[in-house]
Amino acid sequence: MTQMLLRISDLQVAYGHVQAVRGVSIEVGDGDFVAVIGSNGAGKSSTMKALSGVVQPVAGRIEFDGEDVTGQPSHAMVRRGLAMVPEGRHVFSDQTVEDNLRVGAFVFSREPAKVEEAIEHAYELFPRLAERRAQLAGSLSGGEQQMLAIARGLASSPRLLVIDELSLGLAPKILEMLFPVLVELNKEGLAVLLVEQLANQALAVSRRAYVMENGVVSISGESRALASDPRVMEAYLGRRGH
Ligand SMILES: Nc1ncnc2c1ncn2[C@@H]1O[C@H](COP(=O)(O)OP(=O)(O)O)[C@@H](O)[C@H]1O
Ligand SMILES: [Mg+2]
Repeated sequence: MTQMLLRISDLQVAYGHVQAVRGVSIEVGDGDFVAVIGSNGAGKSSTMKALSGVVQPVAGRIEFDGEDVTGQPSHAMVRRGLAMVPEGRHVFSDQTVEDNLRVGAFVFSREPAKVEEAIEHAYELFPRLAERRAQLAGSLSGGEQQMLAIARGLASSPRLLVIDELSLGLAPKILEMLFPVLVELNKEGLAVLLVEQLANQALAVSRRAYVMENGVVSISGESRALASDPRVMEAYLGRRGH
């Protein structure tokens, strides 16, 4: 049994009267690859925002590396080893590729040598970014911006990489390149929590998965088993929980 890295228990998130997350529990082991799938509005992003300290949960508990981190601000979570690639990427459009990476690396270490090392590592992973290092991030294609968002997260030397909607707006050709990168990073020991609307792709690369519907986890288990579970398809067609 691998050691537990992240344990989200009975999490609740609300926006005023809108209860977006109604008691969600998710676990990610050290070096694990976990997917969270589910249709639009299921509460996936709200769960990730509570995890990364962008929204305050109404109830529940978040443990990271054995410590209670519930409600901690984003920068504290980054220092603990959580890298969040938010839905829509949010790269700094008016800064260069390299400056985006520098920001990510700087959060981890202020030692210039370490920062340069992290940046070079990002370029090795995504050579396309190396070619565009002096370009403004806003001028990159969607796929390149996703690469940059991932690379920026990795530059903070995380233990857990969370990606909210890897595939959003990206062409299949780009995805054929990005999914294997996640598999490779996981093989190197990085834990990955992938939120993804493309269920088949997410189940193909992950080890375990959670299906979210209407603010709760409706199904969870080994990804291989869920890939052929008719309930997963039904969840997407919206036949359940209504
Ligand atoms: N900032 C917000 N204010 C009000 N309601 C929100 C906000 N963000 C999300 N919601 C609502 O919370 C629910 C869950 O949204 P979200 O977590 O984004 O789901 P998902 O990521 O699975 O698509 C939806 O009903 C959505 O409309
Ligand atoms: Mg979302």
